[in-house]
Amino acid sequence: MDSPPALLTCAVLFTILTVAAASHPASSFSAFAGQYGNNVFDNGRIIDITHEYRRTMPAFMSKRGMPSVVSELYSMRKNSSTNNSFLKVAVHSGTHADAPSHVYLKYLDQGVDADAFNLEVLNGRGTVVDVPRDTNITAEVLKSLKIPRGVQRVLFRTLNTDRHLMYKKEFESSYVGFTKDGAQWLVDNTDIKLIGLDYLSVARMADLIPTHLIFLAKADIIPVEGLNLDDVKPGNYMINCLPLRLHADGAPTRCILTKD
Ligand SMILES: *[C@@H]1O[C@H](CO)[C@@H](O)[C@H](O)[C@H]1NC(C)=O
Ligand SMILES: *[C@@H]1O[C@H](CO)[C@@H](O)[C@H](O)[C@H]1NC(C)=O
Ligand SMILES: *[C@@H]1O[C@H](CO)[C@@H](O)[C@H](O)[C@H]1NC(C)=O
Repeated sequence: MDSPPALLTCAVLFTILTVAAASHPASSFSAFAGQYGNNVFDNGRIIDITHEYRRTMPAFMSKRGMPSVVSELYSMRKNSSTNNSFLKVAVHSGTHADAPSHVYLKYLDQGVDADAFNLEVLNGRGTVVDVPRDTNITAEVLKSLKIPRGVQRVLFRTLNTDRHLMYKKEFESSYVGFTKDGAQWLVDNTDIKLIGLDYLSVARMADLIPTHLIFLAKADIIPVEGLNLDDVKPGNYMINCLPLRLHADGAPTRCILTKD
């Protein structure tokens, strides 16, 4: 009998879900069959807005795409009594959330990491908005979106979705994200605490660090990046995001929307 260390159990569970999706297209696994939004299990009420980890997904600043994240520990094809895989993944890859310790040394020292994410922020009512396609997310754009005070969770659907950037293996630095002034405007004029975006960073490339510093300054905002908003219509939803409980500066995150 193979007995993998307890440490791996979490990784293994994560893996089992992924592997099951690939190898059981029918029957009781029908919930996993529609990887790209046609999720039939709950009459389409649940929309999976998580990207599947795949080799053709981009990795930040890389031309080569995502490395394989799952490898073999034990295989039934090799006479083991179980299939048991190993997960090795960059925490800021795929659909993931950023912790304050990602850009602040003081938060790193204080352990304000992915294990400390506020689940109240990551789960609750929220809104999906369409961002005008000819611009990054600036203060002007945010003003024009007229997101009411009190709205705490907003997923921004942008040109990135139209360009299918999460399906292009080569990292695309011209993706749409928040400018510095957009980030500051959001902090000063809205109650948004969960910020979702449809590419690997909430900050546009030209303002990569300054925008992260603004959002993570008070450790009250959680950026969720690399979301799959392909089949999502703008509107109000229940948003549920559950990051892996890691002592790390970010964490792979499963996110779903539920229609009202
Ligand atoms: C079992 O693991 C092997 C090796 O990792 C893999 O090739 C195979 O697809 C797995 N089978 C199932 C049903 O998960
Ligand atoms: C699996 O077990 C069978 C029967 O014990 C043996 O003949 C075979 O060589 C084993 N295969 C591997 C890959 O270990
Ligand atoms: C957004 O900003 C990036 C620089 O980070 C730029 O390359 C891109 O063209 C801008 N996109 C739009 C739609 O203005």
